[in-house]
Parts: sequence; C-alpha cells; structure tokens
Amino acid sequence: MTNRIDFNDENSNTSANPSFDSVLQARLSRRTVLRGSVGTMGTVVFGGLGSLSATACGGGDVLLGFDAVAKSQADVVSVPAGYTASVLYALGDPLTATTPAYKNDGTDTDFENRAGDHHDGMEWFGLGTHGKPSANATARGLIAMNHEATTDEKLSSFFLHANGGTSTLPRPAVEVDKETAIHGVSVVEVKARHGKWSTVPDSAFNFRLTALSENILINGPARGNALLKTKYSPDGTKTRGTLNNCGTGKTPWGTFLTGEENWAGYFTRSATDDAARGDKSVAALRRYGRNQGAVSRHGWESGGSDDKYARWNNSKLGTSVDGSDDYRNEMNSMGYIVELDAYDKNKAARKRSALGRFAHESAAFGTPVAGQPLAVYMGDDSRGEYIYKFVSAANWAVADANPADRITTGDKYLDNGKLYVAKFNSDGKGAWVELSIGNSAIAGYAGYTFADQADVLVNARLAADAVGATKMDRPEWCSTNIANGEVYFTLTNNSNRRLEPSSSSQMAPDSANPRVYTDLKGTTEQKGNPNGHILRLKEDSVGNAASSFTWDVYVFGAESSAAPGTVNLSSLTDEQDFSSPDGLVFSPSTGIMWIQTDDGAYTDVTNCMMLAALPGQVGDGAKKTLNYTKADGSALGVDTFVGKAPGADKLKRFLVGAKDCEITGLCETPDGKAMFINIQHPGEGTKMADIADPTKYTSQWPSNAGYGAGKRPRSATIVITKDDGGRIGT
Ligand code: FEO
Ligand code: CA
Ligand code: CA
Repeated sequence: MTNRIDFNDENSNTSANPSFDSVLQARLSRRTVLRGSVGTMGTVVFGGLGSLSATACGGGDVLLGFDAVAKSQADVVSVPAGYTASVLYALGDPLTATTPAYKNDGTDTDFENRAGDHHDGMEWFGLGTHGKPSANATARGLIAMNHEATTDEKLSSFFLHANGGTSTLPRPAVEVDKETAIHGVSVVEVKARHGKWSTVPDSAFNFRLTALSENILINGPARGNALLKTKYSPDGTKTRGTLNNCGTGKTPWGTFLTGEENWAGYFTRSATDDAARGDKSVAALRRYGRNQGAVSRHGWESGGSDDKYARWNNSKLGTSVDGSDDYRNEMNSMGYIVELDAYDKNKAARKRSALGRFAHESAAFGTPVAGQPLAVYMGDDSRGEYIYKFVSAANWAVADANPADRITTGDKYLDNGKLYVAKFNSDGKGAWVELSIGNSAIAGYAGYTFADQADVLVNARLAADAVGATKMDRPEWCSTNIANGEVYFTLTNNSNRRLEPSSSSQMAPDSANPRVYTDLKGTTEQKGNPNGHILRLKEDSVGNAASSFTWDVYVFGAESSAAPGTVNLSSLTDEQDFSSPDGLVFSPSTGIMWIQTDDGAYTDVTNCMMLAALPGQVGDGAKKTLNYTKADGSALGVDTFVGKAPGADKLKRFLVGAKDCEITGLCETPDGKAMFINIQHPGEGTKMADIADPTKYTSQWPSNAGYGAGKRPRSATIVITKDDGGRIGT
C-alpha cells in the first residue's frame, strides 16, 4: 500500500472492552478438544441448486500435484506449469450489445452498462439448456461480482478521466457520475466454446447495481425503523445503491450475497455536526468511523445540487425531527449483507439487517442440515473488530434448495433470527454471545442507549462492545470446510496489536491474536501482527445453533526466514510463505482451500498471491505459549493453539499476481475445471500526476498480457484452466 490516506484502513474500535489481563495471565494445563462428529449431516446441499458431492479426492487426481509458483515482483500473473490463465472481464467491458468497446483512455462513459472497477468477491450461477438455472452446467453460467472501489490518490479515480480528473473540491458532476457507476455489483454471462471462455456482452441476463441504483429494500428488523428514515425514504424501507462491496456468499437457495465493507469513508459530515445533532447518533457515527468534519473519499457530495450528490453529506441540515428532510441517517443504509437474485435483474435487492451492520466481508453458511437452523458466519474488517454469526429462526427445508422464488426464500431465512458475536477464550474454547436488547449488558450499556432490537442490529459494533467481544486482527473472509463443517477466518493483519498498548486504539495480544513482533520492509519497521493468520473453529455438537465452539490457528502468515519460535509458528517454507491473507474459499469440487492475499508488508519481495491448502482439523496441532518481555523486564506469556504445520504437500503457492494488485474472489464451474479469480487494482501505486506517461504506471496489466486497448491498468477477472483438461489444483 502507499502512504495515501487509506480509506480501507478504518480504525474506530476504541472501546475499553474487554480487559485481557485475566485472559493473558491464564495458564490452563489442559485443553479440551472435541472430537465428536460434526453433527448429523442429513441432506447436505451446496450451492443451492442440487446436491453436489463433497468428495475431495474423486477422479484419482493428486491434489496439490502442481509445482509451487515462485515469489515474484514481475508485472504478470504467474500460474504453475501445465496451467493457463486468460483475461476474461476487465473494468469497462461492455454489458450490452450497443455499448462501445472500452477505449481505456479516460473518455469512456456509460459505466452503468460496463464492468465496474476493483473486481472483488464473486460467485458462479450455472445456466443449463434454455437458459434455466442449473447446478451442473459447466460451459455456460453467470458470474455475480463485487466492484469494491476504485484507484485514487486524492479524490479522483484518475484512471477513469482523460486528464486524471479533479483532485480539489468541488468535483465536476461528469466525473462523479462515472465514479458512482463503477462501484457496486455486476452480473455477466460467460460461456466456453472449444475450451475458450468469453463473456456474452449481449446477454439479457447481464446487469449492474451501482452506488446509486434505485429501490434497494431494507429488510429485516430495521425495515421502517426511525434510524433508516431519509429524504429518499421517509418511511425507512428502502435506499439507493450498494457500496464498497467486498466479500461474497452464495445461499443454499441459489442467490448472491454481497458484503458492504468500507462504506463509511464515502460520506462527509460538517465540522459542527455533533452540536447540530446533540443526540446519541454522534456516538454511533464515531463508532462507525465518521467523526464530524470527516472528509469524504471522493467528494461526491460536491457534484451539484441534485439529490444524488446531496445524499453523500450526512450532516443534519433539515429541520425535521425524524430526519426525513435530509441525509443525517443515510449512513445507516449502508453496511449490510445484501442479497440479490443473479438470475433475475427485476427482483429488488434486499439489505438483510438481521445479519447486523458493520464492515462486512464474506458470508459463509455452515453446513445446511434439514430441520435445523442455518448459520451464517461473518467478519467485520477493521482493526480490533469482531467475528459474528447469524442463526436463522427458520429451520432448513431441503425443498428450498430449488425454490420457485429465490429472493422471497431469502426473506424466510435471513429476515428473522439471532445475531451472535464471538468471544475467544485462552483455553481454546469460545462462546457465541447473542446481541439482544434483552441482554442487560446491552440494554444498560453506558456507551450508547439502544432503543430497540433494530438499533442493536444497526449498531452491532456498539452492542458487541457492550458484551465484551474479542477484538480481532481484522477479520476478512470466512469459509466453511466442506469436508468437516469447520469454519475458517482470515485475520489479515493488525498494525495496532502491541505488547503494551499506549492508546485506546491499540490492543494487547490474546490467545486468538497472539503475535506481536516487528517485521522489516526494507528499513521500515512494521509492528503488531504485520502478516496475519487464519483461525478456524469447530462448533460444539449442536452444530449451526451452537453457543460454544473450539478453535485453533490453522496457519500463521510469515516470511519463511522469520524467527520460528515467535513469528513463523507454522514453519512456512519458501514455496508457501505469505502475508496478509484475505480471500478464502473452499472449492466444492476438490475441497481445496484457496487463500488469497491483499498485502503491503511482504511486497518488497513479492506481489500478492494465491495458495492452495489441504487443512486438517481443529486440534491437530498443539498448545504453545508465546513468551514476551515487557519494557520493565516483566514477563508476559500468551497461550495459543497452533494447528499442525501444513508441510510441503498440504500448502503450496499456486499463483502470483501483477504489480500492485491484490488477489481476491474465486468461483469455479461445478466440475472444478475452470476457475475464475480477480486481479484487483493492478498499478494502484501509480501517481496521479503520471497519468499522461504510461511508462510511469507501476503496472500495465492486463494490456501487457494482450488484453484490450490502452495502457492504463485495469482490474479484471481471469479464468484458469489446466492444459490437460483436469481440475484446478490437481
Ligand atoms: Fe475489501 Fe477487507 O477487504
Ligand atoms: Ca519483511
Ligand atoms: Ca477483502
């Protein structure tokens, strides 16, 4: 990452909870490891449109049979020998038959009908004969994809504008209109002919949601609540747009879930707004990262007098009591898991307030079991934020895997249920604490007065503070191990983890986030937990509805040369060392866990990468105590639980990306033979002042891979195939 203002680096958990001292000092001699079955599997359905085999090693393939890809700083995408990676769908590519080809020189318009920017999470939706949804189709389908953000230095998304655009306020409307349109979601049809994949630009299935799409519904307990009332929706039932869409999920009934992550940075508040409000909303806005006087990331509020610009100003400007004459409540309409039907652009998207409002990444379902509730696991990606679980009120009915109306099936499972937050204990166990207005710790919380359950969900961070949830090292994606139902979470890094915290935004090491060290990038010291780790948990015997679990750390990110006793705790070698895990997806075809990085700590040695892993299970390693010495010479021991070291045959680097990119998003055809992943923001370190000189771009990918016009770097989806026609990762 550069030294620009980083709107993805939000940090607003300064809550005092919990005191870790008791946890830190705890010394438990024994760890209880649950070795029971994962629960009755019953009828297991993956992907929503039929039963797929979870056989991990079918077909006689050797999983991870490829040769590891070396670390690299080249401006190319590298895959193992025997594999081919082809660019499929890049920023600006047309989604209608009449949209002109992308010129990539800053003069293109009509982004509502083009691929958005910063491709992120994505999911596959197969199309069978006659264009009907199909669980088995392998040569035709839809990819639903997030477009998280755009490359900026100051205000302007400079690769989108001919001269780089305007880096001072006010922003011209024509620039703002492009920038709001390249955020959101796209759905694009793809097909293979003679083994070659392409998009279908004239497909009637294609569509976009942008940051300003009309009539997106607020569903669940917050629908119609006072907190959601705005000038656009005086009854608090709808909003415009979805924003900073990051991780994804796919429901068992065949719809797409998109997580709204760093949305707060797009809004502004006046320098005197706290006094103008004079109510509890000030505490909520601060907790979600918008202090008064905060400037917005792109200055979209300055585009003109039209309401589509006004909505980005969250200041209390009107005279109404309820906020129906301004956008003081507008930030409460962002920060959700949003559900949409990829097969039907005419079905309104729903923001699922029952799943809580925070900086959402992916949404991973626990294994669906007939007659039992569904569980959805989620992370809140900011330093010191929490891990959550939603448990549906409705029990899973197998017939809902193929519903007549997919999005109303979502209403059934995702609008009613309980939201929990995780507490990780130093004995390797953990608890899910329900975020309920009925909990006296929440109802009586000194930091914020909750009005009702909707308020608890909209301000889930504050409710989680109230119950003393465990502050994590930036929870990114989560994914469920198809082989055994255990749930994995990437904890990407945390520059604020400190042996001796000296401010409210710093936090001491604890069992689930045990490392504090200094890594060198060149001569620059990187402190805290610069390389991140991947934690996993196994629910207790009740399964999805369990209120307790067992956890350990599957793997710690590290440089292979780092100290083995304190940093490289998983004994990573040169062929598998990595930093800052982010994307995380288990392949339904092979069972391989794919790990993707969004790193700035190891980029002096290598570009971001993707690794393939065959993890074991919770409890396959051992307890370890990390011994620290404080400044005054006193000792601090932190117990943690380290999974069995992966070894060379169970964790291997599969891909290294282009310059200045992150690797994110993954889906594949049901046979596992075509894998789609995203190369996000290549060349993001380019200076806006260098826009006229392509030789100064830090990346020219994908044009240097032979794709498209112009030299400006573009986020893009690639498709990976195996030259012998086999499954990816074998
Ligand atoms: Fe959009 Fe936390 O990554
Ligand atoms: Ca280093
Ligand atoms: Ca991410």
